[in-house]
Amino acid sequence: MKTRRPQAYAVVLVALAVLSSCQTGPARYLDTTLTVDQRIDDLLGRLTLEEKIGMVSGETWMETRAVARLGVPALKTNDGPLGVRYWSLDSRTKPAGFGTTAFPAGVAMAATWDQELVEREGKAIAEQARALGRNMLLGPTVNIARLPQWGRNFEGYGEDPYLAARMAVAYIKGVQSEGVIATVKHFAANNQEFERNRVDVRVSERALNEIYFPAFRASIREANVGSVMSSYNKVNGVWAAENPYLLTDVLRTQFGFKGLVVSDWASTHTTVETANAGLDVEMPGAESLKGLLNEPVFVKAGFMGGFMAPEKLLPAVTSGQVAQSTIDEKVRRILWVMFTLGIFDRREEPTNVVDTPEQQAVAREAAVESMVLLKNAGAVLPFSIDRLRSIAVIGPNAAVARTGGGGSSLVEPKIVPVPPLEALKARVGPRVQVGYALGCAMAGEDKEKDTPAARAALIKEAVALARKSDAAVIFAGYSADTEQEMTDRTLALPAGQDDLIQAVSRANRRTVVVLYAGGPVLMDPWLPQVPAVLVAWYPGQEAGTAPVTVLFGDANPSGRLPVTFIKAWKDSAAYPNYPGENLTVNYAEGIYVGYRHADKHNIEPLFPFGHGLSYTTFEYSDLKVSPAEVGASQPVTVSLSVKNAGSVAGAEVVQIYVADRESSLDRPVKELKAFGRVMLEPGETRSVTFTLNRDAMSFYDDTKKDWVAEPGVFEVYAGSSSRDIRLKGSFTLAGK
Ligand code: BGC
Repeated sequence: MKTRRPQAYAVVLVALAVLSSCQTGPARYLDTTLTVDQRIDDLLGRLTLEEKIGMVSGETWMETRAVARLGVPALKTNDGPLGVRYWSLDSRTKPAGFGTTAFPAGVAMAATWDQELVEREGKAIAEQARALGRNMLLGPTVNIARLPQWGRNFEGYGEDPYLAARMAVAYIKGVQSEGVIATVKHFAANNQEFERNRVDVRVSERALNEIYFPAFRASIREANVGSVMSSYNKVNGVWAAENPYLLTDVLRTQFGFKGLVVSDWASTHTTVETANAGLDVEMPGAESLKGLLNEPVFVKAGFMGGFMAPEKLLPAVTSGQVAQSTIDEKVRRILWVMFTLGIFDRREEPTNVVDTPEQQAVAREAAVESMVLLKNAGAVLPFSIDRLRSIAVIGPNAAVARTGGGGSSLVEPKIVPVPPLEALKARVGPRVQVGYALGCAMAGEDKEKDTPAARAALIKEAVALARKSDAAVIFAGYSADTEQEMTDRTLALPAGQDDLIQAVSRANRRTVVVLYAGGPVLMDPWLPQVPAVLVAWYPGQEAGTAPVTVLFGDANPSGRLPVTFIKAWKDSAAYPNYPGENLTVNYAEGIYVGYRHADKHNIEPLFPFGHGLSYTTFEYSDLKVSPAEVGASQPVTVSLSVKNAGSVAGAEVVQIYVADRESSLDRPVKELKAFGRVMLEPGETRSVTFTLNRDAMSFYDDTKKDWVAEPGVFEVYAGSSSRDIRLKGSFTLAGK
């Protein structure tokens, strides 16, 4: 009997649904003067159960089902997040010459610390999505760079939750201002590619709340993001796509999320659990997975999926295992996003106008601003063309434009990107002789050049060129194959490059290394004898031009590291717990990730979080923190003056760190809580002001399951990096 009752109940519900779907009368849901909820209520009454069930999973690889009868559009997704990627699995459908603007990697965007620019980038990407008839963008990626080798570090916004949150909010506001759904991903704790489809991440609630959730929370609360993508992995024993703690307790109840949760592609494992946990849209469509899931590479990687397809979900509803109201709830969320972003009411034909000069300009500006000058001994940079007669251009990334890391985020640019070698030649003109040597093939790209003998010959050739040149620039780093989704990468440069840099920098004292990388790189074999190092990340379609602009001083570098560059792998917080055992990774370091770890254990970084040099110098003065004592909900104002004390214009990124001196739980030595970019002419001084609110003082107390700001003294540091603190002040939170 017991088993029969829910079934009988379900039959009644289905009958009711069918009846209500026969709702007639004027189609109130089409009335744009009604509230979104009124429109949804009306529409829900008209959709049949089958139609609703059809809406909560994909129809194809990147699209959901439309309900043409009632004018409900399909969700038309595309990757994301670094530009619009072509969306069909079947490349035969791709129009000839298809291409869009390839923007810099997420980590590069974070390196700009420029929220206004990131917002413009989001907008420029969404303009292109919409022009191509897409309405849902699969980005931004906000997973924290816990692991320096993570294959997707380049997509995300670095190691700090506050910086990542600011970037995510800016990006999403830009995207959604165009009426395109942004998708903040991957929720949660997807911080390594090794076994990402199977691994169980064991992580404390405090670390989730303080490190891994903030960018998601801010995306929901401050940018009203339309969609959250669940991750592949398990979190504390439960698959992310069927995790009620993540998808319901945290997203809905705690953060107040009203939008939809979409699964990562082929990441679901069950029907009933997934539907009941809070997943709203399963992607991709089960049809499009047929065949694929049996392919050895998919099997090996552990892809699953197709569990919310109508043929599985409908029986689960009719048998009462999934309530009809649960389906309604999912459809309500999907419709809410469609109505609020105008997608439902929009009937426009794609213009196909993409990669406009304005959009290209945003990509260029972002790429230039993202360059981080790590080292510049003896002011070897910027090169002065007048004093150069010859320059050696060397390395596996010199003659190829490395626009992006590999995987779902890689965008095909519409323009043909200029490789660094060509950009440099164009910049120096005919008077300066530019020599080129490969020096070392990119790992995996050319088998013939990958033997010990061939390598030695390539290095010899590069050394000879460097020796007879006034300066040498080595374009080194990774590629879309050596740094990509689905695998983690090496922390040391790909094979042969360390030897090359060592040999060339011995032959020419003015050797500059430009690195294409999505995160930290080990440099100990060569850093002492290399006077200048520039991190170019992956600059998108300006892969060649952006670094050249900085090398010759046409732009003053203003990027700052959004990740700590460590000296050795053992210096990483993840070191004792990667890749994990028996498909379990324990985030035993808790909240001590990145600079929080380095600070706590007194580890000297190679280059600290927030570091980046300029061709000018900045002086800080007059730090004021007021009031000296604040009440519980009162904000603190921090102000200071910054002066450009050099002779060229430049931008400084002022970083405000807060340290809680007295607290019941252990807290980081300091944490980033505000920052701002200031552009200054030579000699110019400007005052900058920041506000610290309660969030800047609070920590997450696992036992109380809440954020707590404890009374006592808080120190406030203003710095040019996390290890270059220029001014100190403090305030007291009253209440003792
Ligand atoms: C990635 C997502 C991406 C999706 C669709 C997955 O493998 O993890 O970030 O949006 O594919 O391409």
